[in-house]
Amino acid sequence: MQIVDEIINKYQTNNDLYIGEKVTMSEHMIQSAMLAEQNHSSESLICACLLHDYGHFIIDDPDFLVSKSLDGKHEDMGFDFLKDYFKPEVIEPIKLHVQAKRYLCRNKSYYEILSDPSKISLKLQGGVMNDEEARKFISLKFYKDAIILRKYDDDGKIPNIKMKKIDDYRNLITSQLINENDHNRIISKTILP
Ligand SMILES: [Fe+2]
Repeated sequence: MQIVDEIINKYQTNNDLYIGEKVTMSEHMIQSAMLAEQNHSSESLICACLLHDYGHFIIDDPDFLVSKSLDGKHEDMGFDFLKDYFKPEVIEPIKLHVQAKRYLCRNKSYYEILSDPSKISLKLQGGVMNDEEARKFISLKFYKDAIILRKYDDDGKIPNIKMKKIDDYRNLITSQLINENDHNRIISKTILP
């Protein structure tokens, strides 16, 4: 599957640090997936954790951005790119993971455990959700998965620990692709007026 090779290659070649943290972006996402695995999450949620910040790889690659005509926030970019390939159970929690942080921060004790960079980015992401935003958020189908993803996201930032390799997840990533018929349907829908 060409898309799986493309994704794995991004993890193997991008060594950028996760903003303000002591792990790379790739390590951070793999650690989040490992936490999901250790807590017996579904394969879809493990895959969502693994790919949740994929949008940062896209932002870091201006040529790629232009070629795919993408623009926006990292969670939207990841979602926009991945939605043509992966099941809703994978991409929807990715789309909602920043909203989940804004929702969880309504609880002061959750806010207190965030890392300093994550507290700073909260402001840029719109701050703590108000009651109306929270009500809308918890009406969404995948909000619970987004909250679980968010917690593994918060904890997957530990430097120098023994980790899996992205290639160890090849079969899992492949298992979460939408099947060939669905993929063709999406493509034809896209090009129809
Ligand atoms: Fe993250």
